Amino acid sequence: MLDRMIQTENLTKRFPCSTAGAERGCAPPDEKSGSGEAQTWFTAVDGVTLDVAAGEILALLGPNGAGKTTTVRMLASILTPSAGWARVAGFDTVREARQVRHAVGLLTEFPGLYLRMRADEYLAFFGELQGLSAAHIRHRIETLTERFGLAQARRQRLAEYSKGMRQKLALIRAMLHDPAVLLLDEPTSAMDPHSAKQVRDAILDLRSDRRTVLLCTHNLTEAELLADRIAIIRRGQIVALDTPARLKAQLLGPPLLEVRLAHSLDGYLPHLTDLVQVKERGDTWFRYCTPSPETTNPALLARLAGLDARVLTLSEVLRSLEDVYLRIVTEEEEEGHGR
Ligand SMILES: Nc1ncnc2c1ncn2[C@@H]1O[C@H](COP(=O)(O)OP(=O)(O)OP(=O)(O)O)[C@@H](O)[C@H]1O
Ligand SMILES: [Mg+2]
Repeated sequence: MLDRMIQTENLTKRFPCSTAGAERGCAPPDEKSGSGEAQTWFTAVDGVTLDVAAGEILALLGPNGAGKTTTVRMLASILTPSAGWARVAGFDTVREARQVRHAVGLLTEFPGLYLRMRADEYLAFFGELQGLSAAHIRHRIETLTERFGLAQARRQRLAEYSKGMRQKLALIRAMLHDPAVLLLDEPTSAMDPHSAKQVRDAILDLRSDRRTVLLCTHNLTEAELLADRIAIIRRGQIVALDTPARLKAQLLGPPLLEVRLAHSLDGYLPHLTDLVQVKERGDTWFRYCTPSPETTNPALLARLAGLDARVLTLSEVLRSLEDVYLRIVTEEEEEGHGR
């Protein structure tokens, strides 16, 4: 199997501007666009370079209109890039679009469903398009509808499906041919908590099967739970790309630790100043940062024990991905480039 299942280099998409688009950053054609027309262009995806390994889950986060769906549509060979290139499962998304569509399972934001069809007919139709045998299709439909709690609704017409049921069906459709790469654009946005958990579990199973997943989501807890790496995109550009832990360390500094005592802190802190720099304190607790917790923490506990302090807990203060995300997105607003 290939090492890098999704690869892009300078992937760019420009759309012609409508008259209404002028104030959101439309520009006349430049040399890069090569259009030579009097048209103005809006750059929705701007030089995205990415690498996603086999068995990796990459979450693509970013504000509304940042370019996530446009990126996914280029990766799925639905849109042609204006510049740059992408390879998915080793295939070029422009020259080998047919192979790409076969290698990819795509869940779009607004899946177009044939509402008069029954769910099993709909899935069978897509299975046939992917060249699966009737017996295999039947087996996959049974397994996947069971898995996502749609077994009872298999014979129902899609018009009668709720929003969340439609989203589950679109996910089943994406997974039907067991593709090597899944492009999931907000797969749980319409789902109740239990269904969303079923989907998250399914995504984790895909990873253990060495499937590659690109996941667009606004649910930061979901991104943190699932993703090996997080890419943050704003105004069409990737502005951060790393593991959740490293993004936090980079943007929020070293981990913050907290000691809680069974009694008041009064009189203890002056005895600790050579060991830790206290950042915050309350009546019975204090917080500090240290670049080397493996030596500082045991020394601190030994010192406190020597002072007869009764320590209830020493723990890391959890910092959420939301802190990281908001910091990056607020920076954008402060720069004043509204899109
Ligand atoms: N077909 C199109 N024609 C013109 N502009 C488009 C087209 N598709 C997308 N855009 C513009 O490109 C930008 C990026 O849109 P995109 O749908 O990729 O954003 P997104 O990151 O998926 O946002 P959301 O979080 O709201 O789903 C937006 O400003 C959008 O208006
Ligand atoms: Mg989108």
